[in-house]
Amino acid sequence: MDSVQREYWVKVAFGCVYHGIMDDGSEVAIKLLTREEQSGDREFIGEVGMLSRLHHRNLVKLLGICIEGRTRCLVYELVRNGSVESHLHGADKNKGNLSWDSRMKIALGAARALAYLHEDSNPRVIHRDFKASNVLLEDNFTPKVSDFGLAREASDASHHISTRVMGTFGDACLAWTQQCEVVRLLLFNANIYFARAETSSMDT
Ligand SMILES: Nc1ncnc2c1ncn2[C@@H]1O[C@H](COP(=O)(O)OP(=O)(O)O)[C@@H](O)[C@H]1O
Ligand SMILES: [Mg+2]
Repeated sequence: MDSVQREYWVKVAFGCVYHGIMDDGSEVAIKLLTREEQSGDREFIGEVGMLSRLHHRNLVKLLGICIEGRTRCLVYELVRNGSVESHLHGADKNKGNLSWDSRMKIALGAARALAYLHEDSNPRVIHRDFKASNVLLEDNFTPKVSDFGLAREASDASHHISTRVMGTFGDACLAWTQQCEVVRLLLFNANIYFARAETSSMDT
């Protein structure tokens, strides 16, 4: 990696996210984990193991990892247009309202990402932290679900749930968590449409 631009960073639960430039000039996002206790390591291992086996156009792509001493980095494709949260309620709110088409694209993309995680991926996965701030946006508003630090595997063949990754919750609890995630998707979509109705009525 050639350089990491320190002026472009976001503080996260276990460290910071930097904007980096690779030797070939490509831009990446680098999540630098600084916390050295067990939970930071567990988050790192969980996120790496999970992401390396998942491939979907609505999931953020993990390009690589770096471990040096006690420092751990996750290198992601750069998703440069903020998050759904920042566009609806935060720093990007004043950039201009999201069009109906963009909002539809976000709702569909997020639903496809969760359907892939719950039904089609191998292993099946429950994200467990699905929310507007963890849905990043490309310039054309293609959504990318990110931040897999709390994710857990669901099982392969049926809706039976295993606890192979972190292993502290029982089957029923994880099945319930999966159902809750579907409800969170509904709330996410309601948030998108409600914000739209609000801005539309102000526009007219
Ligand atoms: N791939 C990425 N591209 C661009 N920005 C990112 C990327 N990943 C994270 N970020 C930025 O860092 C913030 C926090 O990242 P996240 O992985 O959600 O950390 P946390 O565990 O603190 O929630 C995001 O809201 C976003 O602003
Ligand atoms: Mg997050």
